[in-house]
Amino acid sequence: MTLELDLTRDPAHLRHGSNIGQPLARRDGVLKVTGRARYAADNHPRGMLFAVLAVASVARGRVASLDIEAAKAHPGVVEVMTSANRPPLADDPDGKPNPFAFRFEALQNDRVRYAGQPIAVVIGETLEAATEGASLLSPRYETEPARIGLDGNEAYIPPVVGMGFPAESRHGDVDAALAGSAKTIEAIYETPPHYHNAMEPHAIVAEWQGDRLVIDTPTQGLVMMQARLAGLFGIPPENILIRSPYLGGGFGGKGLMAGPQVLGILAAKLVGRPVKLVVRREQLYGPFGHRSPTRQTLRLGASAEGRLSAIHHHARIVTSSFEDFYESAAHVTHTLYAAPAIATTYDAVRADTGTPLFVRAPGIAPGSIALESAIDEMAEACGIDPLAFRVQNYAEVEPTTGKPFSSKALRECYTQGAERFGWWDRPLKPRMMRDKDGFLVGWGMGTATFHALMFAGQARAVIRRDGSGVVESGAHDMGQGAWTAFAQIAADSLGLDLDQVTFKAGSSDLPDAGIAGGSAHTATVGTAIHNAGAAVIGKLAELATADRRSPLFGAGNAGVVARAGRLLRRDDESRGESYGEILARAGLSEIEASGSGLPDQAANEHYAMHSHGAVFAEVKVDPDLGQVRVSRMIGAFAAGRIINPKMVRSQLIGGMIWGVSLALHEEAITDRRSGRIMNANLGEYHVPVNADIPAIEAFTVEEVDPHVNPLGIKGVGEIGITGSAGAVANAVWHATGIRVRRFPVRIGDLVGHG
Ligand code: MOS
Repeated sequence: MTLELDLTRDPAHLRHGSNIGQPLARRDGVLKVTGRARYAADNHPRGMLFAVLAVASVARGRVASLDIEAAKAHPGVVEVMTSANRPPLADDPDGKPNPFAFRFEALQNDRVRYAGQPIAVVIGETLEAATEGASLLSPRYETEPARIGLDGNEAYIPPVVGMGFPAESRHGDVDAALAGSAKTIEAIYETPPHYHNAMEPHAIVAEWQGDRLVIDTPTQGLVMMQARLAGLFGIPPENILIRSPYLGGGFGGKGLMAGPQVLGILAAKLVGRPVKLVVRREQLYGPFGHRSPTRQTLRLGASAEGRLSAIHHHARIVTSSFEDFYESAAHVTHTLYAAPAIATTYDAVRADTGTPLFVRAPGIAPGSIALESAIDEMAEACGIDPLAFRVQNYAEVEPTTGKPFSSKALRECYTQGAERFGWWDRPLKPRMMRDKDGFLVGWGMGTATFHALMFAGQARAVIRRDGSGVVESGAHDMGQGAWTAFAQIAADSLGLDLDQVTFKAGSSDLPDAGIAGGSAHTATVGTAIHNAGAAVIGKLAELATADRRSPLFGAGNAGVVARAGRLLRRDDESRGESYGEILARAGLSEIEASGSGLPDQAANEHYAMHSHGAVFAEVKVDPDLGQVRVSRMIGAFAAGRIINPKMVRSQLIGGMIWGVSLALHEEAITDRRSGRIMNANLGEYHVPVNADIPAIEAFTVEEVDPHVNPLGIKGVGEIGITGSAGAVANAVWHATGIRVRRFPVRIGDLVGHG
């Protein structure tokens, strides 16, 4: 609860270790486990009706007929909304008002662009009536052949990939370097489509109050969604209130507004009553984005001693027929290993699929499993331990830009992770270890990395005459613990105890917190809160130091320290007064200030900013049945300042579990004729469950980053997945001697090699 206020320097001289840095329990935890946290679908405004989506069962064509009469004749069905009767929108869903406004389907016509696209909405008095009504629509289609998967269409070079990166980038002459290399490898890796699979389905409760719109829906981007809806419905943003206090997981799938949310609002407009639309589990595999499948070709060259001379990382990716989103799967290669020649290239195909979008560590997760596998293969080719190989190809500066890193404690991650795991007892060759039951045992590792980003966010801080504080920002807690971390930063920024500070978030009428994504929310909103707190303390200090009646008179802002609800003279801490006294004497009931969190452009030009980590995995493989079990995992991460170590550990472990998933479990399987996802449910789309997850340990190493932002926060949301998938895949090779390059690793890849 100390704020060392010195406005002559950066106002960021926050003394660390009061609330920030404490392993506090999640503030919303009890509400969640007792069922008192109200998620979007828990809302029931008076007079509410239920809406159910009907979705296309073909990938491409048009809806030729729907039996609307049959649906409407069903008792309890109130209305059927199709492209023929849906209320008008002020903006075209196929328009592109900004690069983050992705095209979507809101019954604008009868076209079908992918299986799972909404083609009608049935509105009923009960969920059962609407569901039954939707099943009576008996759609008929005029179909065209579906273009599915990585080879379903002609390939082209995408205009840009990821967040606007060039689709081709070359540093040095890769082909010449490869030709001159003592060792070369070339390998092709594939990853399947991934779906977000958050526990909480997308849902919306929409109520029109005249031309005011009140909605409850889970979102990772409140104000962005508010702006998009304002454009679509032709009303001012301030007429739209979006409440999103709790999310049951986001994973990128709730980052952007999606068509079904607009359909819920349109349905409410059509019937003139509040409407709830909860998307059924199998309908989540379509209009909400997914991760593109990838086919990645890695060509690596190295000297006889195992120094990398070249890396070429090429990725084939898929986007939809009507939108451009290109998974930046090769991007990880720009940063991770030092090589004089590095090239990344892409091509893409358009498929009859919902538009792929951001999913858990976009680009980096699938890219990293390919790169980390290839590095392992090269280490093997050179006869060098995979960790030693990585250390000897350590990038001291970002290899493709030459920029120094703003901080990079990856070496410490390698060292400490390896020590805790016992890595150095690892035999170099595969198939050398068995456990007492005869299972093959393998050890593998991977390097984790994720960019340390910031977006733009705002916060407002208030100090009241009673000495309490309020901090507000329309921030999002997807389950990662953001509310708790932000409350910790808020308390420290105000020089107050946590229980004296109210932190408000999760609503669109609060200051714009930007988007909770890109692992940037804590850095962005944390900086905004920190700056808002410093600004309000600065105002208080101005009041006091200019007032002859104050013991702080004449001290100057820089001569004041905020601590435990009091401003104190820096040169004599026995002299000071409480916030309440300062406000009372000034005749104010409260004082407020705003702050923003923005990336520091100058720092970004000078430094490469990334989090790092090292993940070590042990697997056991049944030599007869090919079954793989991860038996232990250790991850060491360097991510700058850690606001709450308890929740950071939980996020890192969560990421590592998704890494296990990528390596061994998850895969959406598409029917090539219909374009339908055949395993669109949590029974058959495998994600790790408790029994799949062994002793996992994650820890952070000390890392001070003076450049990323005033608090030195680099973000932990997504990095856990990035080294982990490769570590597991490499451990499978070490156990079996079989290099599986098409993920997830399947039993069939390993069986019969006993
Ligand atoms: Mo994340 S995929 O940036 O929500």
